[in-house]
Amino acid sequence: MSGQVEEIKARVDIVDLISEYIRLKPAGPNNWKALCPFHNEKSPSFMVSKDKQIWHCFGCSEGGDIFTFIQKIEGLEFPEALRVLAQKAGVKLVAENPQVASQRNRLLDVTELAAYFWHKTLLESHQAQKARDYLRKRQVNERTIEDFKIGYAPDSWDHLNKFLKSRGFTDQEIFLAGLAVKKERGQDFYDRFRDRLMFPINDLHGSPIGFSGRTLKVDEQGGKYINTPQTLIYNKSLVIFNLDRAKTEIKKENLAIVVEGQMDVVSAVQAGTGNVIATSGTAFTPDQIKILKRYTNNLAIAFDMDLAGETAAKRGIDLALNEEMNVKVIVLPNGCKDPDECIKTNPSLWFDAVKNAKSIMEFYFQKTFSQLDLNQPEGKTKAAKILLPLIYRLTNKIEQTHWLQKLAEALKVSERTLLESLPKVASQRSSIGTATTTLVAKDRNIMLYEQILALALKFPENIANVIDSLAPEIITDNDLNNLYKKLIIYYTENINKNSKDFAYQDFHNKIKEQGLGILADRLILLSERDFFDYDLDAARTELATAINFTKRNYYNLQLKELERKINEAEKQNLKEEGERLGQEFNNIVIKLSTLD
Ligand code: UTP
Ligand code: MN
Repeated sequence: MSGQVEEIKARVDIVDLISEYIRLKPAGPNNWKALCPFHNEKSPSFMVSKDKQIWHCFGCSEGGDIFTFIQKIEGLEFPEALRVLAQKAGVKLVAENPQVASQRNRLLDVTELAAYFWHKTLLESHQAQKARDYLRKRQVNERTIEDFKIGYAPDSWDHLNKFLKSRGFTDQEIFLAGLAVKKERGQDFYDRFRDRLMFPINDLHGSPIGFSGRTLKVDEQGGKYINTPQTLIYNKSLVIFNLDRAKTEIKKENLAIVVEGQMDVVSAVQAGTGNVIATSGTAFTPDQIKILKRYTNNLAIAFDMDLAGETAAKRGIDLALNEEMNVKVIVLPNGCKDPDECIKTNPSLWFDAVKNAKSIMEFYFQKTFSQLDLNQPEGKTKAAKILLPLIYRLTNKIEQTHWLQKLAEALKVSERTLLESLPKVASQRSSIGTATTTLVAKDRNIMLYEQILALALKFPENIANVIDSLAPEIITDNDLNNLYKKLIIYYTENINKNSKDFAYQDFHNKIKEQGLGILADRLILLSERDFFDYDLDAARTELATAINFTKRNYYNLQLKELERKINEAEKQNLKEEGERLGQEFNNIVIKLSTLD
């Protein structure tokens, strides 16, 4: 093994490798420097030495060679780092080596083989005639099909399964890679993707880790797209479609163009726009933004102009702005649903739209004003209500003042008046959607627990529902967990059917001795402050959202923990234990998917 490690080190240049992730600047004949990707800093203290083939950060004291860099930046264990680097170096790893045969590597292998198989099926099989026709109809050319390794999964329950098993993969492995679905009864599995055009989704190095499959059925039965569920190798909150191919171009252009769907990426790349990526219909996650920031600080977002698209866009934009990225909006010409349609109508419409991307504030201003009558007081109030929070969250003070002036002019009110309404707007930011994205994970969870309990105490009609949908262990803060358990006990013992019987004071007295009274009071006050104008319906909706968020966070944490355990089991060569944990992992994934 050590021979192979040395061989890989000799073949992969550290400067090339690190340049794939961050922008290095020359610092002397043999050294390079950059802003450290592992901690926040304003001036570069991250150094790379070409002749010594090492890196070191003088800010956070991290350092090492190509292996430690890859492990750290991608959060990999050694076997996976080895795999990634071996591939780069063109070194074939000895397969029996236990270091290579981690569960994760097996899943990477089976996914790669599935991609290859579906691609070959698309190109050669008679079953794929309709898929080829479909692609021709959508003007996807052969070169593009090859570039994206687009494939076709025929309308069959076991087409893929049979093939993968003939190549030595087990049911379990195929299932853990998200390629098969388990039958409700018994131990049988069937192919997840059937009669679908398959788009492999790659990691940063171009290895497929999952798929998005577009149905070819006219009625789009079973969902227009289905995607790989979360697996050990596929985490949808990290992955960015096409980033592996686009990253060089993004760095060169210092701009990432963000679109909503795979087909939009495919179309744009075919038309010659290389720096395009997609988020698969969802909003950006903080992790995705962090990854993008390695390559550029500039985003141009071209989301569908329908309502859903707009909200998704907005959620992504908030995060990007929080990270101090420059965000522009690509406004598609009237009549174009998405970039793909725009390009099909006329590529120059697309190029122009990209070139004329508007600053995000300009976009919001125009959009808001076009919907309101600014001569009416209601119109003015509404415009201020929409735009002030957006202005408020700008981190650059000069920009903030600029837009405040603009708004004051447009509404014909003084800036002073606007400024005075700012604090009120600021406190609105505590609603779940925006606040959760800015706070760190731990605080966010506590905030959610507090919200849930506060709402339950203020609206006792909801308590039964909360108890039904939220198991106490999901509240991981000690005191809040205690309070919740007390509430469950109190409720079951004292309240018969009619939640109106719930008397806060009585409950308070019962828990006072355990020191929980103060906490409960604080929560009740919190709900008076934040939810004073809520009716029962609004409370119910807010609760459902908060509970959903809480569960999602909880399960995601469990997945992380399981992932750690799986790695541990593999290090100690505990194969059965590893598989058992893998199964547990998938069970949680299933729970997670019911939350969507
Ligand atoms: P769209 O519905 O806009 O699809 O969803 P599209 O990309 O324009 O696809 P075509 O042109 O009809 O073939 C945008 C993206 O949202 C995700 C997919 O990633 C899709 O590309 N999506 C959409 C899903 O994951 N599931 C769905 O059921 C629909
Ligand atoms: Mn489309």
